[in-house]
Amino acid sequence: MIMGLSMTTTSTLFYIAFLTIAAFHNCFCDGSSNIVCLETERQALLNVKHDLKDLSNRLSSWAGQECCQWAGVVCDNSTGHVHEIPLRNPYGNYGTRGEYETYLRNMLGGKINPSLLDLKHLRHLDLSKNDFEGAHIPNFIGSIGSLRYLNLSYAGFSGIIPHQLGNLSMLRYLGLCSVFDVYGELELRDDNLQWLPGLISLQQLDIRQVNLSRASNWLQVINTLPSLVELHLSSCELNYVSPSININYTLSILDLSNNNFESPIPRWIFSMSSLVSLDISGCNFYGSIPSGLQNMTSLRVFDASIII
Ligand SMILES: *[C@@H]1O[C@H](CO)[C@@H](O)[C@H](O)[C@H]1NC(C)=O
Ligand SMILES: *[C@@H]1O[C@H](CO)[C@@H](O)[C@H](O)[C@H]1NC(C)=O
Ligand SMILES: *[C@@H]1O[C@H](CO)[C@@H](O)[C@H](O)[C@H]1NC(C)=O
Ligand SMILES: *[C@@H]1O[C@H](CO)[C@@H](O)[C@H](O)[C@H]1NC(C)=O
Ligand SMILES: *[C@@H]1O[C@H](CO)[C@@H](O)[C@H](O)[C@H]1NC(C)=O
Ligand SMILES: *[C@@H]1O[C@H](CO)[C@@H](O)[C@H](O)[C@H]1NC(C)=O
Repeated sequence: MIMGLSMTTTSTLFYIAFLTIAAFHNCFCDGSSNIVCLETERQALLNVKHDLKDLSNRLSSWAGQECCQWAGVVCDNSTGHVHEIPLRNPYGNYGTRGEYETYLRNMLGGKINPSLLDLKHLRHLDLSKNDFEGAHIPNFIGSIGSLRYLNLSYAGFSGIIPHQLGNLSMLRYLGLCSVFDVYGELELRDDNLQWLPGLISLQQLDIRQVNLSRASNWLQVINTLPSLVELHLSSCELNYVSPSININYTLSILDLSNNNFESPIPRWIFSMSSLVSLDISGCNFYGSIPSGLQNMTSLRVFDASIII
């Protein structure tokens, strides 16, 4: 009797162990095995791959039927729609010569195929640290209305930022950091940022090194973004800042470093009590720091150094 019971218990345990292993296998070992890739989206990804230059074969797994298992592609695990294509160059441009060469070799380039528009549920597109060789940012990216995250920083794009990006009303993060070309000119520029107010969900904006020298309205325009918490405008060739304005959002991070304002520090900066990090180094501000600093109780990082 006792023996029988223990036998049953043992086989139950075996059974549970078996189920656990099976479940483990399904959910973890082969995470997306039961997500079915949608044919239109698979075709779209193949078209995108076809037009990209890929010297290091980063996209070699982009073949066959199961597009949700291709390198970098992330699908929704219930609907199978492609949600993310993080195609950032995984290597950094620092360190030894060998590491630098690896970084260069892993840059994607070529053309961005408009078939991207067939990915109707794409939320996350990261093409940063690649080299599109001075191409303009394609206007059609502004029509991928499902995007939440768009990172085109340090990707070799040049010219005026297409105003169509202002259609991306779900966007929470926009990264468009530029680099200098061989003549020391900034690659990306924008003369008025008129499109920016369309980004009503934007929380983080990182457009450092975009030439905004003509966008004297930058502060008014950015002030219309209701959800903004992080703003990076370092080295944007800014030369004008409104001395007084009612800032009506709660920024945590404000980086205005390396611009040439040649004016007293505007008072509104020190009325932003939500700031955690404030960088106004190398801004060519003069005069004394306005009262209000002692009220900024969240502030952890503050840089107002003069860069010579
Ligand atoms: C499916 O996705 C949801 C949301 O992304 C996640 O919370 C859940 O754990 C995923 N399920 C599996 C089995 O991976
Ligand atoms: C955007 O891309 C740049 C370059 O790869 C990276 O440094 C940055 O962290 C990215 N931004 C976010 C929020 O992921
Ligand atoms: C996208 O933006 C452009 C230019 O700002 C505008 O003309 C066009 O109507 C917009 N398209 C949609 C679908 O909102
Ligand atoms: C920025 O743009 C202005 C006006 O278009 C131009 O004169 C200036 O040289 C540019 N600066 C850089 C660093 O590219
Ligand atoms: C912030 O204030 C400006 C005027 O100072 C206004 O145009 C803008 O709509 C306001 N934004 C929000 C989110 O209230
Ligand atoms: C700092 O806070 C005190 C108390 O709330 C207030 O009276 C004062 O006006 C504030 N100073 C500035 C410059 O905002």
